[in-house]
Amino acid sequence: STPIPPSRPNPRLGVEPGNFLILVVVSMVFIVMVLGMSGALYCLRYRSHHKLKEKLTGLGSYTGHDATTAYQDLCRQRMAVQTSEHGDRSEVFHPSHTSRINSVSSQFSDGPMQSPSARSSTSSWSEEPTQTNMDISTGHMILSYMEDHLQNKDRLDKEWEALCSYQAEPAACAVGQEEQNVQRNRPRGVLVYDHSRVILKPENNQSRSDYINASPIMDHDPRNPAYISAQGPLPSTVADFWQMVWESGCVVIVMLTPLAENGIKQCHQYWPDEGSDLYHTYEVNLVSEHIWCDDFLVRSFYLKNVQTNETRTVTQFHFLSWMDQNVPESARTLLDFRRKVNKCYRGRSCPIIVHCSDGAGRSGTYILIDMVLNKMAKGAKEIDIAATLEHLRDQRSGMVQTKEQFEFALTAVAEEVNAILKALPQ
Ligand SMILES: *[C@@H]1O[C@H](CO)[C@@H](O)[C@H](O)[C@H]1NC(C)=O
Ligand SMILES: *[C@@H]1O[C@H](CO)[C@@H](O)[C@H](O)[C@H]1NC(C)=O
Repeated sequence: STPIPPSRPNPRLGVEPGNFLILVVVSMVFIVMVLGMSGALYCLRYRSHHKLKEKLTGLGSYTGHDATTAYQDLCRQRMAVQTSEHGDRSEVFHPSHTSRINSVSSQFSDGPMQSPSARSSTSSWSEEPTQTNMDISTGHMILSYMEDHLQNKDRLDKEWEALCSYQAEPAACAVGQEEQNVQRNRPRGVLVYDHSRVILKPENNQSRSDYINASPIMDHDPRNPAYISAQGPLPSTVADFWQMVWESGCVVIVMLTPLAENGIKQCHQYWPDEGSDLYHTYEVNLVSEHIWCDDFLVRSFYLKNVQTNETRTVTQFHFLSWMDQNVPESARTLLDFRRKVNKCYRGRSCPIIVHCSDGAGRSGTYILIDMVLNKMAKGAKEIDIAATLEHLRDQRSGMVQTKEQFEFALTAVAEEVNAILKALPQ
């Protein structure tokens, strides 16, 4: 006779002594297996936890032999703060600032997710800080550095002055000033450097021009740009813009300006209100529009190259409440926005197209914040925001327009670092 499966013994069957013995043996084997497996699982978890702990403490010791002077300064400040402030981390902060940052981070880490007023369900997108390799001591060091920076207005002023007198080299902008290209730039906008501009394929265009006011922005990889910082399209450059989207392989567009401010046009609406529009050889279909909150919305486009019949999906994140020459009302909202952008972008290698009106002030601020936070998430220990901004200004002039925008970038980085620290297991 066949043994009764141990998982489903039927009590109504009259079990014969022989079968009963088999049943007992099988059940015992089963129990031993379950015990063994849970034991193994426990060991594995303990080991990985232990490893993580080791990693975190191991990273805490700084040896400055290959560090830049800026980084050494940073360390010195950190030491000074630690010794003068009885080593208590919470005392590093100015009280008023602490409460602000803390309230922000508590909303990040344990506050309930604010449900977006979306036209469709979007609940799968979480608001938690994304996984990070940033270690705790680097995080604290960065936080106190930022804190010091934000409180010491003199130093901020001086650093901003130094940044303003920074001269990029080379800085020739001849192509953008050629007669046929002048009308493709926004009046009084930023010009692209000849050595760092997006070059369109001229054969894809009837007018055989390769010009668009947009700059590739490199991070660590000198061949593949991480971003393209672009001017908001003009009515006459919409087809060029989509050509750039197509040719760069872009799937995420970050738009940081409303279409108009106080009646002044900031950017031409380069997408259809509904259905589809054809811009030269690019057919753009508006698939959906999710209104997340008062500050931003997300549009999804279906893009088709009608010459080749190839198609692609492009997602546009549109921040609505950031005015020209200004800063967003809350860093938290922009950080939320950034998380959604990066969640959508995750794992890709194409550049993110970032544009506002001139593609430098608001775009530069956003790229600066994103670049610095990405570096930190990858475990970088040397974070020099001013140097990062100079690196951006080598590639496009006017990146981050005002001191307030620079200060905002520092605040945003500090708030995100604080949120990440709060979310880490203590
Ligand atoms: C490409 O051709 C279209 C249609 O003729 C024109 O509107 C557009 O300005 C051209 N773009 C460039 C970069 O020359
Ligand atoms: C694109 O699709 C159209 C309609 O289906 C077809 O007539 C045309 O030959 C296709 N073009 C290419 C390049 O495949």
